[in-house]
Amino acid sequence: MNVSVNMRLPNYVAAPDRYDTMKYRRCGKSGIMLPLISLGLWHNFGRSDNFNTASEIVRTAFDNGITHFDLANNYGPPYGASEETFGEIFNRDLKSYRDELIISSKAGWDMWNGPYGNFGSRKYLIASCDQSLKRMGLDYVDIFYHHRPDPDTPLEETMGALDHLVRQGKALYVGISQYNAEDTAKAANILKDLGTPCLIHQPRYNMFDRWVEDGLLSVLGSEGIGSIAFSPLQQGVLTNKYLNGLPEDSRAVKDDRYLKAAQITPKVLGKVRLLNEIAQNRGQSLAQMAIVWLLRNPEITTVLVGVSKTSQLLDNIKALEVLEFSTEELEKIEIILK
Ligand SMILES: NC(=O)c1ccc[n+]([C@@H]2O[C@H](COP(=O)([O-])OP(=O)(O)OC[C@H]3O[C@@H](n4cnc5c(N)ncnc54)[C@H](OP(=O)(O)O)[C@@H]3O)[C@@H](O)[C@H]2O)c1
Repeated sequence: MNVSVNMRLPNYVAAPDRYDTMKYRRCGKSGIMLPLISLGLWHNFGRSDNFNTASEIVRTAFDNGITHFDLANNYGPPYGASEETFGEIFNRDLKSYRDELIISSKAGWDMWNGPYGNFGSRKYLIASCDQSLKRMGLDYVDIFYHHRPDPDTPLEETMGALDHLVRQGKALYVGISQYNAEDTAKAANILKDLGTPCLIHQPRYNMFDRWVEDGLLSVLGSEGIGSIAFSPLQQGVLTNKYLNGLPEDSRAVKDDRYLKAAQITPKVLGKVRLLNEIAQNRGQSLAQMAIVWLLRNPEITTVLVGVSKTSQLLDNIKALEVLEFSTEELEKIEIILK
């Protein structure tokens, strides 16, 4: 990353009061509690991002009781770089706190060339987990996910690979991401039979993408699986940042691989503006309201935010100061979202 070693931040000692304000929720029917806000390293931890900013974000998260850090094999760019960055931060700052952390990784999307670096084979998942552990300098991850459903590999093979990783001691728990309700129920049954229950599901869920409400959340509730909502701010659209144009340092301008400026249409901004007014009347930023709106569902264990700046993380954590919604607020939000 782009900071030379002797310019890096001074040594780190975690804040003694780090558990004083964060709230934790049980992850499904498991022994694991997760903070209501978790930190994702999909963006802003790549090789050309600033290492000190990345370190500060991770330190600030942990200092505020965020114990869960979410990664995947191909986060970067380039692929693997986020795990390398996190590994460097972990080994310098967080190693002595390992037992206070839940670190996850995933495999399921394209990672390396040839037929064994993508989708859901046993070959891919086990090799990829080994690679992730090396990049992060870890002996084990706390959660290993299958990153997306693979229609061509039998679910038994993919779930068998997850179970195998747990038996090898390379993962403590397993999860699935982006699986629909029906496949989630099937995967959960296979994992239960193998003796490695599915801990957690990672779906995209935010005010503008509510597919999970149509069946998935009820499967998670009945199966006792927790969930972690990704892209809760629709990659930044559900904040006030795009209301007055496209900021130079925003994702839509800096890195439009996944969020394109063209997606932020006047119609979208019209809804964002109305939501922003409701948030302001609640004394919250829109980002804060969008986060707690997800947490109104008991099936959502934690909300997985990404941030490019420490100030954004602190803003998001403050969301937890006002968790409740009035019926009137919820009705107004529904009208805007419909
Ligand atoms: N399982 C999967 O398939 C999958 C897919 C995608 C993501 N994920 C996970 O979910 C995590 C989060 O995804 P995401 O980064 O799309 O989440 P997000 O929270 O919806 O968007 C993050 C972006 O929102 C902006 N932001 C955050 N807080 C803000 C605030 N308080 N005020 C203004 N802007 C704010 C920042 O944008 P700027 O950069 O413009 O400042 C930030 O980079 C990822 O890191 C990854 O761990 C999983």
